[in-house]
Amino acid sequence: MRHAHVDTAVPVSQIGLGTWQFGSGREWGYGPDYDDHEAAAIVRRALELGVTLFDTAEIYGRGASERILGSALRDAGADPDAIFLASKLFPLLPVAPVVEQRAIASARRLGVRRLDLYQVHQPNPAVSDATTMRGMHALIQLGVVGHAGVSNYSLRRWQQADAALAVAHRQAHDTASLAGPAPVVLANQVQYSLVHRGPEDELLPFARREKRLVIAYSPLAQGLLSARHTSGERVGGVRSANPLFLPENLDAARPLFATLREIADAHDATPAQVALAWVIRDPQVAAIPGASSVEQLESNVAAAELRLRDDEVAALTRAALDFRPVTGWRSAPKVLRSLAGR
Ligand SMILES: NC(=O)c1ccc[n+]([C@@H]2O[C@H](COP(=O)([O-])OP(=O)(O)OC[C@H]3O[C@@H](n4cnc5c(N)ncnc54)[C@H](OP(=O)(O)O)[C@@H]3O)[C@@H](O)[C@H]2O)c1
Repeated sequence: MRHAHVDTAVPVSQIGLGTWQFGSGREWGYGPDYDDHEAAAIVRRALELGVTLFDTAEIYGRGASERILGSALRDAGADPDAIFLASKLFPLLPVAPVVEQRAIASARRLGVRRLDLYQVHQPNPAVSDATTMRGMHALIQLGVVGHAGVSNYSLRRWQQADAALAVAHRQAHDTASLAGPAPVVLANQVQYSLVHRGPEDELLPFARREKRLVIAYSPLAQGLLSARHTSGERVGGVRSANPLFLPENLDAARPLFATLREIADAHDATPAQVALAWVIRDPQVAAIPGASSVEQLESNVAAAELRLRDDEVAALTRAALDFRPVTGWRSAPKVLRSLAGR
């Protein structure tokens, strides 16, 4: 397993496991057997294969994902000191005391004493990071949280959160000289894949400069980059709200799928593995694909061993640039029709 270039006590595997799928039957449609059996088998196999990064959130299945992940880790005998467990705060009124209470509730559901990474799930437009980071700092001091993180933050807001955490650190100590180095907001979890390349503009250069971590969510674009979906099929759950799965976008993605297949064939790999290898080619990135089966998990972990040549990276990036899906307001009526028809 390859590890991200960040300073953490436990090395962060560049392929982690996303667990939005756990306890989220309505969104992913995997059914009770998945939650009762497959999820635990996926976690166990992930541990066996050297995955250290496990990502969940209080909002996933309204706590069910945290509960399922926590009990799966316990049942598999996971050593809490050998994994990097991440959860997220849903930032409805993320003022300091609320942040503190909610982290403790997440840790309880997970059955652990410490969250290695606690992320603000998305920026709150009305509540500043000053109060949120005061709560984070208190949690770090108490040892309930190892590192502060954010998610869906712009570079500007990530840096503001960083500054707010430093202020909270100074305020918690009488003088800056006594305070020691301030903790930083280690990670920003953002959508990053061949079809969402936005983090490359500002977030990745910052992460490289400052040795921070970009956690790539939806690294397979919710399965699109497995290159197995065709315009003839109807997708359900979250994917019926994702414009990338509209028939015309699946048709438009065919040349990108062909490039993924061609490079996959050359490596005796799959398109999904190539898509993941493209994301984690930067050592500041860890990807957290979700998995609907143990086989998918195994395949995703194996992607960490796949090294793409520069010309292959360039060919993939070119094919991705040429893919211009209909998204945003232009896709809204069709997405609404797709949702109504599911
Ligand atoms: N911070 C945020 O705002 C945010 C937002 C979204 C997600 N996340 C996190 O990121 C994680 C991953 O994102 P995501 O679940 O949205 O998308 P994803 O990881 O890109 O896609 C996951 C889906 O792709 C399919 N898949 C996985 N591995 C595959 C393989 N090897 N071959 C073929 N298909 C494969 C599976 O669906 P099927 O088998 O059903 O096709 C799986 O459920 C989540 O679990 C969550 O932890 C965070």
